[in-house]
Formats: sequence, C-alpha cells, structure tokens
Amino acid sequence: MHQREAKSDLASSGGARGGKLALDAAQASPTPAIAATARVLAQLQHLPGPLLPVLHGVQHELGCIPAEAVQTIAEALNLSRAEVHGVITFYPHFRSEPAARHTLEVCRAESCQAMGGEHLAAHARAKLGCDFHASTADGNFTLEPVYCLGLCAQSPAVMIDGQPHARVTPDKLDRLLTRTLEATS
Ligand code: FES
Repeated sequence: MHQREAKSDLASSGGARGGKLALDAAQASPTPAIAATARVLAQLQHLPGPLLPVLHGVQHELGCIPAEAVQTIAEALNLSRAEVHGVITFYPHFRSEPAARHTLEVCRAESCQAMGGEHLAAHARAKLGCDFHASTADGNFTLEPVYCLGLCAQSPAVMIDGQPHARVTPDKLDRLLTRTLEATS
C-alpha cells in the first residue's frame, strides 16, 4: 500500500468524526484495511462497550490490527489513537503484525509446567529463534503461549495450527514442526 494513499484515506475518513458519512467513506476506501475495518465498525460499533468486539472483528478479518485500522477505529468510536493502541497492547491476543504461516502454541499452565512445560517452552524459543508473541525470521512460525488445552493428563501439550498434541518432548516438537513445514511445502 502506498503511504501517501493511506494517509489520504485516513484524512478523508476523519472528516466527520464518528459520523455515518465518515464510516460510509471509509467503507469505500481503496485501502483494504480501512474498508474492512469500516465494515466491522458498521456491524459492531453500536454494541455497548464496542471496542473489544471491534478489535476481535478486525483481527478476524485482517489477521492483525494494522495502524490504519487503529486510526479508523479511534475516529469511529470517538477515542484517541493512544487509547485504542493501549487496549491492543494490553491484551497479548491482539497483534499489530500478521501472524506467520503457522502458529505454535505452547501450554504454560500449571499441569504442563509441572511436567516439563518450561523446558519445552525454552526449547521452542531456542528452536524458532524468537520469543513468545513473535514470529520466526523466515515467517514460518508464530510462537504463542496458551493456558490449558484440556490435555492436562497428557502434559506437556502444544497446539500447532489449531491441532493439539500431547506428551510433547523437545524431540517430538522438532518432528511436529518439520512435519508441519513438509505438509505445506
Ligand atoms: S495445563 Fe497444559 S493442557 Fe492443561
């Protein structure tokens, strides 16, 4: 997306703060992130306490909440960008950058911790070369914590692209990651 085009979109959507006209204009924006955000806002902005539902909706639509979306949300809900940004950064679930091709979630809850989960988490960080809430440099994996997958009797557990795996050792995790990449190469 061209930066000047995005700025122009932001300016035009900010013409009538919180108004229907501004939202209509944003929905017609040539910048896909702004148009998608405006569609979500049109559906959800009238809910009581709309910010969190809107953020969830935008992330569902776009895979993340980019800066253009923050601006559009702030205008529509009559908030400052700092307020919207503060909520996004408070909840680890929300991301400002798109996730990688695959997501590895390592359980950090009590039962898994007691069964080697901390060692497994350290191995995952070293193996992927990134911390939690971050992605590998090659864009293959995003590493996220998760708090109980319902597999406590078979700890430690992880989830890869929504698929749970139990009794995961570092070696097993390596094999799972390799298999995940092979399945999509
Ligand atoms: S604590 Fe990890 S699956 Fe329940």
